[in-house]
Amino acid sequence: MASLKSLFGGARPEVPAASDVQPDAPPADLMLISTRNIDKSYPVGNGQVFVLRRVSIDVKPGEFVSIMGPSGAGKSTLLSVVGMLDSAWTGEFWFLGHPVHTYSIKERVALNKQYIGFVFQQYHLIDDLTVAENLDIPLSYRNIKKGEREAMVADTLDRFQIVGKKDLYPRQLSGGQQQLVAVARAVIASPRLILADEPTGNLHSSQGAEIMELFTRLNQQGTTIIQVTHSETNAGYGNRIINLKDGWIV
Ligand SMILES: Nc1ncnc2c1ncn2[C@@H]1O[C@H](COP(=O)(O)OP(=O)(O)OP(=O)(O)O)[C@@H](O)[C@H]1O
Ligand SMILES: [Mg+2]
Repeated sequence: MASLKSLFGGARPEVPAASDVQPDAPPADLMLISTRNIDKSYPVGNGQVFVLRRVSIDVKPGEFVSIMGPSGAGKSTLLSVVGMLDSAWTGEFWFLGHPVHTYSIKERVALNKQYIGFVFQQYHLIDDLTVAENLDIPLSYRNIKKGEREAMVADTLDRFQIVGKKDLYPRQLSGGQQQLVAVARAVIASPRLILADEPTGNLHSSQGAEIMELFTRLNQQGTTIIQVTHSETNAGYGNRIINLKDGWIV
């Protein structure tokens, strides 16, 4: 997995042209994501244990998909693959027509930075940056002037009602507050795709509903959303459920 520092720090990335699209690739305008027979395994003892088995999914632009399944089913693993955080898998994966399976890790990270906002299960805020600085990170990957970035951070702090927390560090926040900052960071740069791993797990139900309503609004404006959730209520905000069990789609 690429280190989080490398993902959330550093210069603006260069995304390769999708010119070397293979003949069997799905048309980019039809699918945001197409995976074919994704396998992922870990070595255990003399053998290997599979955590993803022949996973083939298609997600169209504008969908709001929920991934569900028991603990250990492979949901977070699948999100890491789709988000190009994890390159240790086999199979084929096209993202907006880009043949990701042929790309270097650097090219995958560039795609991730340009198109995807993440909410991780464990938040993954950067400890030595304040709330406001954490929110600025996705903006730093875009060609946006400093003054405009500051205005966007201020708007987002306001929208998430965390203005009073802007100069605090993640360790000075409660779990729920860190989760809110993580959601704010995922949406601030208006990414094409939001990947969210149990984005409301640590929130009060009314805050959770607010996040789901925010996702619904973003989705209505064209953002594609894939969320992992154990909650039927949260899954109800989406338009489709992908069920995983023991690494298989069921
Ligand atoms: N480094 C590793 N070595 C061996 N197995 C691993 C490793 N990392 C993860 N796994 C296994 O991969 C499987 C899938 O894990 P994953 O985190 O994707 O599950 P999940 O569906 O997100 O579960 P949860 O709902 O609890 O978050 C688990 O059985 C886990 O033990
Ligand atoms: Mg998980």
